[in-house]
Amino acid sequence: PLIAVLNGPNLNLLGKRQPEIYGRETLADVETACRTLAAELGLDLRFHQSNHEGQIVDWIHDARETAAGIVINPAALTHTSVAILDALNAFEGPVVEVHVSNVHKRESFRHHSFVSLRADGVIAGCGTEGYLLALRHVSSRLGARNR
Ligand code: DQA
Repeated sequence: PLIAVLNGPNLNLLGKRQPEIYGRETLADVETACRTLAAELGLDLRFHQSNHEGQIVDWIHDARETAAGIVINPAALTHTSVAILDALNAFEGPVVEVHVSNVHKRESFRHHSFVSLRADGVIAGCGTEGYLLALRHVSSRLGARNR
């Protein structure tokens, strides 16, 4: 099965922006770690980042045809985007939302997530390890489905 890992705005700067909040690992490091784990779990991976909401909507539409599950860090769009929520509502497989930082420990505008209205699971505050936890969880949900 193919899993789409989708990343929203400013995550191209992961490891460089506000390292005290987001750590020093880059998105390329995250992708490498995800690919290693995916190989172990027998998953194919598509890994994307965009600063543009519409691009992320398009990738979720692509996932409808091609992916079994989605791991998504919508970044700031988490807190604003009904369009991403609607796109995810049109996707049938497991969806896990990831935040590198613990959004609940931060400004109150980060406490609300549109995406959480759809996500099957949410991981926040586990650093970049959150992506790996999310992949494992999507994998076990898919396994449970095929049983
Ligand atoms: C984030 C949290 C968001 O509030 C923020 O806008 C981000 C990253 C995280 O991974 O912790 O850009 O999604």
